[in-house]
Amino acid sequence: MIDQKNWAIDSWRAKPALQMPTYPDNNVTADVEARLAKLPPLVFAGEARKLKKRLASVAAGEAFLFMGGDCAESFAEFSANNIRDTFRMILQMAVVLTFGGGIPVVKVGRMAGQFAKPRSNDTETRDGVTLPSYRGDIINGIEFTPEARRHDPERMVQVYNQSSATLNLLRAFVQGGYADLHRVHQWNLDFVTRGLQGERYRNLADRIGDTLDFMAACNITAETSAQIRETEFYTSHEALLLPYEQALTRVDSTTGDCYDVSAHMLWIGERTRQPDGAHVEFLRGVKNPIGLKCGPNMPADDLMRLIDILNPDNEPGRLTLIARMGDEKIAENLPPLLRAAKKAGRKEVWCSDPMHGNTHTSASGYKTREFARILAEVRGFFDACHAEGVHPGGVHLEMTGQEVTECMGGASAVTDEGLAARYETHCDPRLNATQALELAFLIADYLKQGHRAPFAI
Ligand code: PEP
Ligand code: CO
Repeated sequence: MIDQKNWAIDSWRAKPALQMPTYPDNNVTADVEARLAKLPPLVFAGEARKLKKRLASVAAGEAFLFMGGDCAESFAEFSANNIRDTFRMILQMAVVLTFGGGIPVVKVGRMAGQFAKPRSNDTETRDGVTLPSYRGDIINGIEFTPEARRHDPERMVQVYNQSSATLNLLRAFVQGGYADLHRVHQWNLDFVTRGLQGERYRNLADRIGDTLDFMAACNITAETSAQIRETEFYTSHEALLLPYEQALTRVDSTTGDCYDVSAHMLWIGERTRQPDGAHVEFLRGVKNPIGLKCGPNMPADDLMRLIDILNPDNEPGRLTLIARMGDEKIAENLPPLLRAAKKAGRKEVWCSDPMHGNTHTSASGYKTREFARILAEVRGFFDACHAEGVHPGGVHLEMTGQEVTECMGGASAVTDEGLAARYETHCDPRLNATQALELAFLIADYLKQGHRAPFAI
């Protein structure tokens, strides 16, 4: 039995911790942690509480959660243009879901902190040479050399700095006019404009433009209404590297509670969700909204145990369950989990990650995902939720605003031969901008089926 009360910021250190780096010198690591612990918070506890409130309305069936961004952020691809393009992709998809689905959308980026990656193997072998696996830029470098693959705690400071600059830009986008609904046409990325998805989006943007004109005639304008002028945007990442997360955990002066101020929302990955493991131990004690990945082999008993540990008070918005089953398994493996949580009167959000159960190696040797399978898993998620009387509360996607070629199929018709053209991810394959927009329109159709009168798109 896990002791609910006996939690401390470092109580995770006494538990088995999977997927951790092996730093060469404990003194150097301790020094980095001490420096990080003195740095200002990246987000405020009050913001995390606000997100929890928003997620509570998702749990009540009154809103939809959209989570998206890179599989792994990197030092090499850090640029204002990349951040802007991912952000506007999320805005664009949220507008499609809001307008098409007739439901408010809570926007959460896999951004400003998504740097640590769990790996299936500790080592990687190429041409007879074996080196430690790449674990994300927060731990080591992607280049296949002994120097790059060495685990280096100093990288945590670089992640803090990059996350801080990313958040600074995101906050400016959110409040500085970029997210004003009047700019809905400009969020269309150039290369998307040409195709069918671009045209569909343009039509939708025209109708929003007409609606804004009508509202202006009624005296509701960007000047009078913050909802038109700006948006709400939250950040999240996998809380994998616990020394970093601990160093960024602070006591909130208003409530006396501990918040992990590295992001608004943190999630526990499929590989580190052991009920008596370090990751669950750490996250049970911080008051942020928490996500929990639920894979195809999770027994309902494990889920209920984890829910009891992570959300003992059944607080709505505290826990988001992120199903990542695979398109062939979701119809069979998700319903028992939905049923168990519902029977216990649980108020968790259910969200679909249609990416991580659908990864395979293509004939030409690329790690890829097929658009059709991603879509089939989303469909399976909505079907299972509708059949069990549970709100299909959200989606969690790996996507980018760039026109990369990492996932196959969809309107951009990427083939196996085409993957090589722009395969740029540091870890898992992401939907490109065209594929992501296409998926948003299809999800809006599903949302429409289960919801109040939506706008036709
Ligand atoms: C991820 O979200 O990048 C990830 C590794 O997911 P999972 O833990 O579900 O495999
Ligand atoms: Co991933």
